[in-house]
Amino acid sequence: MSDAVKISPSILSADFGDLSRAVYVVEEVGADSIHVDVMDGHFVSNLTIGPPVIRSLKRSCTVPLHAHLMVDNPDDSLDWYLDAGVDGVTVHVETTRHLNRALAHAKESGVKAGVSLNPSTPIAALRDVLADADHVLLMSVNPGFGGQSFLRSALRRLDELVALAREMGASPTIEIDGGITAANAPDVVREGARVLIAGNAVFAADDPGAALRELRAAAETGLTARD
Ligand code: DX5
Ligand code: ZN
Repeated sequence: MSDAVKISPSILSADFGDLSRAVYVVEEVGADSIHVDVMDGHFVSNLTIGPPVIRSLKRSCTVPLHAHLMVDNPDDSLDWYLDAGVDGVTVHVETTRHLNRALAHAKESGVKAGVSLNPSTPIAALRDVLADADHVLLMSVNPGFGGQSFLRSALRRLDELVALAREMGASPTIEIDGGITAANAPDVVREGARVLIAGNAVFAADDPGAALRELRAAAETGLTARD
């Protein structure tokens, strides 16, 4: 398991009127990637942005841009995001019957391919796809909106996920998404998360750059506490 913690700010909580500036601000202080929440108003009851905005945003990104697809039937739309230039894509286990095929297709396109699951979807649902996933994005809120409270059950689920990956001989990067703050960052890292997605904790702060730095420093204390 990697000993480096990565921070991926979610632009869902940024100013949609100036996303390029939001990206610039967090890249300036070392954001490892940009997390773009794609919502279709069906899988989740919110509607955000899609391929045209991603294509434009990609032009101003200097770090990898990852699309979190909270959409029904991603098999039909996956190519839209690959064509828009994403560097990584995450598909929800709840949205497709052909998860292995979706992951293989993304990887064949040279893109990091991962799976996500909602807080009430059993970790065991990943058993037969873990080996094919570059990353697993564990939801610590019910998807659809930023600024929600962290579900503490995610800590047990992280532990369960680490154990399942070990059992399956798989080593996906473990990501956590939803309600992540400097207060809970050490806990999620201690339980195995290595990429922390944070929206409100960064973009709702008066100084997003300082907030990202504080989040990273807090997260890294979780590495030492584990030893
Ligand atoms: C929720 C999204 C998350 C969210 C994170 O459906 O997948 O990425 O934007 O935002 P915070 O950190 O505010 O919970
Ligand atoms: Zn997300």
